[in-house]
Amino acid sequence: MSALVRLTDVTKVYQGGLTGALNGVSLTVEKGEFTAIMGPSGSGKSTLLNLVAGLDWPTSGRVAVGGTDLGTLGEAGLARFRRNHIGFVFQFFYLLPNLTALENVLLPAQLKGTVATARARELFEQLGIDDVADRYPARLSGGQQQRVAIARALINQPTLLLADEPTGALDTHSGAHVMDLLVQLQRAGQTVLLVTHDAKLATRHAARVISVRDGKIVDDATLDTAERAAPEVLRVRSEEVSR
Ligand SMILES: Nc1ncnc2c1ncn2[C@@H]1O[C@H](COP(=O)(O)OP(=O)(O)OP(=O)(O)O)[C@@H](O)[C@H]1O
Ligand SMILES: [Mg+2]
Repeated sequence: MSALVRLTDVTKVYQGGLTGALNGVSLTVEKGEFTAIMGPSGSGKSTLLNLVAGLDWPTSGRVAVGGTDLGTLGEAGLARFRRNHIGFVFQFFYLLPNLTALENVLLPAQLKGTVATARARELFEQLGIDDVADRYPARLSGGQQQRVAIARALINQPTLLLADEPTGALDTHSGAHVMDLLVQLQRAGQTVLLVTHDAKLATRHAARVISVRDGKIVDDATLDTAERAAPEVLRVRSEEVSR
């Protein structure tokens, strides 16, 4: 089976950076997987996710999604790729304050030239936020805003759902709810790639946990059900890694 995401020897050195934010990372993600990328602050998690999203280019190496080498796409091609294939959820939601929740969710579809009101309504229902569709973001809780942001990420039926610390700005309860929703989406067939520095969250929800440190993959663990119920082993390992 060909991988949905394939990184081959990817290095990213930011301008002015003394060392690489990513150093020779190779990685594949299969369709339908729920993968967590874990690691301490500054280890390169967001850099990795941004490269997969086509938000940035690697300094060297190759990033391919669905068999397309993103390095062969120019600015316009990358923008089209993102619109058609990537849903991105951020830590701080980034909803547009002057649009209602529903208008925020419809925006990516409009940019693509499609009308998706029925699908948006479905997503609001599925994510348990149909009562807030006509409210402005300022009148929503953090958990509600993040669910709106997830609906917005899903409106164009992306091949890949990417989430960078999606629970980082939420209280424990709302965070757990958002994680449960991501798991439900994966069970329904959505490929999910999640970045978190929270080992507990990663091991509880993801079947595969990739640990990154200093821009390198230092562990790549596929957890069976028993390990996920008692993930102490991995937690110990990840603590060793972040020391
Ligand atoms: N736009 C940028 N320009 C220059 N350096 C950057 C840029 N973005 C990230 N870096 C650097 O690259 C390294 C990796 O950063 P990255 O944001 O990928 O880490 P992270 O694992 O997501 O951290 P955190 O958990 O704090 O979000 C860090 O040393 C960071 O300072
Ligand atoms: Mg980050």
